[in-house]
Amino acid sequence: MLGFASVVLAVWAFLKCAAQFPVQVPNTYPHAYPGMPQTAYGPDWQNYFEVTDTLPNVTFPLARNFAGNVGVNRADHPNATLFFWGFEKLNGSLTDVASETDPWIIWLNGGPGSSSMIGLMTENGLLQVTGNFSIVENEFSWHKLADTFWVDQPVGTGYATSDDTGYVPDEDQLGRDFVEFLSNIVAIFPSLASRPLYLAGESYAGVYIASLFFILPPEILTTCTQPYITKAIFSTPNPPVRLAKIAIGDGIIGDDTTHRVLPIVCALLLRSVVSQHICKAHCVQAPRRHISVYLRLPPSTICLPGQTYVYRDM
Ligand SMILES: *[C@@H]1O[C@H](CO)[C@@H](O)[C@H](O)[C@H]1NC(C)=O
Ligand SMILES: *[C@@H]1O[C@H](CO)[C@@H](O)[C@H](O)[C@H]1NC(C)=O
Ligand SMILES: *[C@@H]1O[C@H](CO)[C@@H](O)[C@H](O)[C@H]1NC(C)=O
Ligand SMILES: *[C@@H]1O[C@H](CO)[C@@H](O)[C@H](O)[C@H]1NC(C)=O
Repeated sequence: MLGFASVVLAVWAFLKCAAQFPVQVPNTYPHAYPGMPQTAYGPDWQNYFEVTDTLPNVTFPLARNFAGNVGVNRADHPNATLFFWGFEKLNGSLTDVASETDPWIIWLNGGPGSSSMIGLMTENGLLQVTGNFSIVENEFSWHKLADTFWVDQPVGTGYATSDDTGYVPDEDQLGRDFVEFLSNIVAIFPSLASRPLYLAGESYAGVYIASLFFILPPEILTTCTQPYITKAIFSTPNPPVRLAKIAIGDGIIGDDTTHRVLPIVCALLLRSVVSQHICKAHCVQAPRRHISVYLRLPPSTICLPGQTYVYRDM
């Protein structure tokens, strides 16, 4: 009886929760600071984006860095922007057009809907915010390997902005926005057009960046509904960047079904005594054919079961 009551309670709680959606999302606007160029994006925007003010609680010298909101070229949503904060490996390495062969890195946090400032300020960036809000230098910051951009996306995430009807309805829009953002970033920092891009991220950024499909030929990429940035880059006739490598840490790469049968999930769950019964249930009940169908390399040429999140509802 108790079990039944719990189920009823859980269903009631779920319905109550679901009834609150969709939530009203706000308008957010990119801030126009003094001196904003009135021209189309180009190298003359570098000065505008260069961070020259001293930052609160930063007591050590910073690598030369650039930050701001850059549009995603959606005609009906002029305030749809992504936010970037880019740090140079060497003084001038981002603005010097001669650095054609040097790689550059983009880092994305996951969520969906997590700001990549989390990565910049608590994980792999130069500025590490401590528990008492002082800031210490991370000597292992990734910008020491290559010019690195931490990017808030999709629109409306973190410092990225959107008007209330401009939020992405699915990850195909997310991918298109990201490619348009890249075309503008490349207009501002022209050397990035030819330099090898290492697109990296963690957690849900695995879905943003790629599922196993990233190595599929374009004709299949364009027919799959599976969402991500690499798909958008590869299905753009003249992509603005040269994607060289991707890296995904603790990533989601497929859909729920796929993850349910990932052997690694069981390995992780087994570490917790409480979760052992969950693990057993998953492993015993998992249709094992999913492993052979969805988790082989090269991947099967069919689409994974679709998973398109509606961000508004999350
Ligand atoms: C864009 O943002 C500006 C404020 O910077 C605002 O005045 C304008 O109405 C916004 N446009 C749209 C279409 O939301
Ligand atoms: C970078 O180089 C410029 C010009 O050579 C110099 O004025 C500036 O102080 C340097 N910045 C850093 C962070 O070293
Ligand atoms: C803040 O935390 C850091 C790192 O834990 C420590 O070194 C520093 O002394 C603390 N500062 C203050 C004002 O408590
Ligand atoms: C700067 O650090 C101190 C602790 O060292 C903290 O109390 C203060 O809130 C921080 N200031 C900002 C702007 O974060």
